[in-house]
Amino acid sequence: MADGRPIIFSGIQPTGRKHLGNFIGAIRQYVEGQDRGDPAIFCVVDLHSISVPYEPADLRERVLDTAAILLAAGLDPERCIFFRQSDVREHTELTWLLSAVTSHGDLDRMTQFKEKSGRARELASAALFYYPVLMAADVLAYRATEVPVGDDQRQHVELMREIARRFNARFGEVLVVPELVLPEVGARIMDLQEPERKMSTTGGTEAGTVLVLDDEKTIRKKVGSAVTDSGREVRAAPDKPGVTNLIDILAVARGTGRAEIEREFDGLGYGDFKRAVADGVVELLAPVRERYEELRPDEAGLEATLAAGAEKARAIAAATLVDVRERMGFG
Ligand code: TRP
Repeated sequence: MADGRPIIFSGIQPTGRKHLGNFIGAIRQYVEGQDRGDPAIFCVVDLHSISVPYEPADLRERVLDTAAILLAAGLDPERCIFFRQSDVREHTELTWLLSAVTSHGDLDRMTQFKEKSGRARELASAALFYYPVLMAADVLAYRATEVPVGDDQRQHVELMREIARRFNARFGEVLVVPELVLPEVGARIMDLQEPERKMSTTGGTEAGTVLVLDDEKTIRKKVGSAVTDSGREVRAAPDKPGVTNLIDILAVARGTGRAEIEREFDGLGYGDFKRAVADGVVELLAPVRERYEELRPDEAGLEATLAAGAEKARAIAAATLVDVRERMGFG
């Protein structure tokens, strides 16, 4: 960060079911971040996946799906460090070391743990409980200054900041306290069928969730059947969550603001408007899907890209671990 450029780190869950909300809120931010960050580091967080029931063979496939989606969207391994979390063992080692300055109470307060463990708290894996410590290790291993994540990860970032502060207070100034970076406005993309809730592959509706890899026909069908609101005005307003969401989506696809969209569709009906939104989403996602189809079959190529990224990542993380181990009194 010699010339004041940030060290950016973010992690993304391995799933091939990335949706429009992920694309707008996270993936586009990563692509933009790779020229701002020095370096920008992006990681497919497969170690986090074992905190809930999973299939090993499936996990490997989903990592490759995710890698191909991110590369298709414009991540360039020449301009960023892109790797698979489990390839860099420093993440797991640092997790254990940071647990010395993390309290049981800290982890017990995490809302994601409460939500994901639900009523079966006693049966939830210890990995689910430990998830935030691994996430802290991900970021702190690179002494990252910026962490771009969705609002749902705010509490985890606050905890990693606290862990870094406590570590530095106890063992000496070794770690960097990172800043949370939330996506710009317009990044809260809502479910097309239930526009009061965020678009999500786990909690949302199937028809209301546009996947990055949906084909054109599917996209047109989902956008065409999106819930609008009573009235016929294309106007963003709190009592028009459906229309507001579509306006935001089109504004992002076109690279303009809400006002321009409202002006353009002033006096036109929802039919014209929805067709324009569908066109916009198709234009946004079709090139990504096409590129994905080219990249995904080349598993050896994807593995080689991830391995090269892991090597660059390891060089940075290993240096941090040398300092951490030394301060903590290890050999
Ligand atoms: N928990 C994050 C999510 O669900 C993913 C993640 C893991 C992450 N490690 C990270 C994000 C480090 C930012 C930094 O979205």
